Amino acid sequence: MAFILWTDKYSTNIQEIDTQHKHLFSLLCKLHDAVSEGAEQGTIADILDELVDYTFYHFRIEEDLLKKKIYPDYENHKKQHDKLTGQAVELQNRFREGSATISFEILDFLRDWLDKHTLVSDLKYADFIMKNKTPGIS
Ligand SMILES: [Fe+2]
Ligand SMILES: [Fe+2]
Repeated sequence: MAFILWTDKYSTNIQEIDTQHKHLFSLLCKLHDAVSEGAEQGTIADILDELVDYTFYHFRIEEDLLKKKIYPDYENHKKQHDKLTGQAVELQNRFREGSATISFEILDFLRDWLDKHTLVSDLKYADFIMKNKTPGIS
């Protein structure tokens, strides 16, 4: 069974965002698999970098979208993104220095964060966008 699996319950009804969430989930699965299989540190570091880079990319796309749609809870949403990326970069640096490992505890934390944020916070803005859609304008 996949470590985290995208299903319709996560759907924002915004195709680009759903595609990105699926990719984020699959990168986290890839990291989980590498750790489970006892892959080399270099391999794990590369996947972690890929995951962190893609997370930054995804958050930027979401934040641009929320600004464009004048989402009232933008600041709070961005704060959640910033907190996670701050923690992720710290982990990335500590892992590179050899002072941290990617434990199952960390993997579970990332999965729970991603699950909750996508399901609660992202679906909240998706709902706002859906309700404030101007007919004929996407
Ligand atoms: Fe998201
Ligand atoms: Fe988000």
